Amino acid sequence: MATNASNTLYAALRTLPVQLPDQVTGGSVWYTVGAVVASLLVLEQLVYRTKKGHLPGPRWTIPIIGKFADSRSPTLEKYIESWKSGALSAVSVFNIFIVMSATNEYSRKIFNSPKYAEPCLVASAKQVLCPDNWVFLNGKAHVEYRRILNTLFTRKALSIYLQTQDAITRQHFARWLIESELSSKPGTLMNPIRDLNMVTSLRVFCGSHIPDHAIATITEKYWVITCALQLVNFPLAIPGTATYRAIQARKEAMVWLEAAAASSKRAMAEGKDVECLLDAWVMEINEARKQGKMDREFSDREMALVVLSFLFASQDAMSSGLIYFLQHLADHPDVLAKVREEQERVRGGDFERPTTLEMLDAMPYIKACVKETLRLRPPVTMVPYKATRPFPISEDYTVPKNTIIIPSLYPSVMDEEVYPEPEKFLPDRWLDPESPANANPQQYLVFGSGPHRCIGVEYVMMHMSVVGGVAACLLDWTHHVTPDSEKTQMIATIFPKDGCIVSFRPRKHD
Ligand code: HEM
Repeated sequence: MATNASNTLYAALRTLPVQLPDQVTGGSVWYTVGAVVASLLVLEQLVYRTKKGHLPGPRWTIPIIGKFADSRSPTLEKYIESWKSGALSAVSVFNIFIVMSATNEYSRKIFNSPKYAEPCLVASAKQVLCPDNWVFLNGKAHVEYRRILNTLFTRKALSIYLQTQDAITRQHFARWLIESELSSKPGTLMNPIRDLNMVTSLRVFCGSHIPDHAIATITEKYWVITCALQLVNFPLAIPGTATYRAIQARKEAMVWLEAAAASSKRAMAEGKDVECLLDAWVMEINEARKQGKMDREFSDREMALVVLSFLFASQDAMSSGLIYFLQHLADHPDVLAKVREEQERVRGGDFERPTTLEMLDAMPYIKACVKETLRLRPPVTMVPYKATRPFPISEDYTVPKNTIIIPSLYPSVMDEEVYPEPEKFLPDRWLDPESPANANPQQYLVFGSGPHRCIGVEYVMMHMSVVGGVAACLLDWTHHVTPDSEKTQMIATIFPKDGCIVSFRPRKHD
């Protein structure tokens, strides 16, 4: 078993072919160096094989780099192959031992075992997001911080954000229509959706406490941060590296985010209306302190770091979700027709009326489409965790301490017993409360599970319903299908390999 790794290793070491000569001279230096290198390479293989135990995975690891080449250009297809190889499988990259789970049972066990494993962001994350960011908390400190942040996603708070989301979505659609008319060629959805999400997030989080030109700067710079936080990256912040550029971008963003927090505190003290997440938070803190339920302050920096963490957690996943959503609706005209029918009914034919929570409550069909799109193309296909101690994950395998252990989400949402015809976009599977999809909520791991489950679930459902719903009302769009439309590229999350090429026209109503 892997827990006996060190004993086995020492036993094996005693048998290594290392003989140091009495006098190290001339050619014998080379002999010694060669013997040491050879011993280290053998040792590397022994450590790998001992940790791996009986798990599927390559029997030998490529010296030093392991599966580095594969991890530089990850594809969903390669991951699907390794998930098929076993419920748990192992690889090594640069001597970092990695165990991946492919079943729902093991993935949920990892998510829900904070005693043994905790989230482990990529190596550069602490430098980019700052080591004192709340996202790096675990255990009791995390639970307490998260309890406060949960209050930012209540129905009351969401109804404030919704007005902003609806207004910004309409502004962007108006711009897309002008750009589409001016351009002779259809373009990909990647940048338009990223911009829409970034502006929406910054306005929802910071309201008017951040000027327009700062939103433009942060939106432009944020891509640099996304690139530095991909699964595999050179982690040293040396000028010229992605990590270095991301740190510079973060510093610039933090200046504006801290100023926004300070401005929100002033506005709330002056009795102004709550218009964004920062305002809602300031009011929440003031109220809790007044009632004696809280005895701490949140500094401008702490609040700015939370906004930064929300941007980091949401930007890429939300872009992936929305791009696939518009792609699926365009590829399934029957589904789009039903979405339009629901929109027309709920909005009473008035497409200019801003969306309200009550309207969304009356739109089960679009919510089913959102759930289905996130199931079929889950933006986050896996989440890296780290074993903080030997983790007895099954009766016959204990994950060694410090292993990167990755609960995979994709195989769960592709399980054909729970989701018959899993490769098809079938929103109706969510409409029957008795359907296997609804009867097995534990299978839907799109947002993770356990203490670190995504905090933004309701916000995501709302945002995707607004963008998809308003698009169905105001836009006609054509998806220009290419051989790469159904292939995926993995950035931090997944996207259509061709970026989803579309053209827009204003929708004509009868
Ligand atoms: C389609 C969009 C999104 C998807 C698919 C998604 C998915 C996920 C997943 C899989 C996790 C890891 C959960 C775990 O370890 O159990 C996560 C964590 C998180 N998400 Fe999301 N997310 C999305 C959007 C958002 C948004 C909009 C926000 C903020 C407003 C957000 C904030 C967070 C935060 C803060 C965490 C870490 C929570 C913690 O450690 O306590 N996410 N998300």
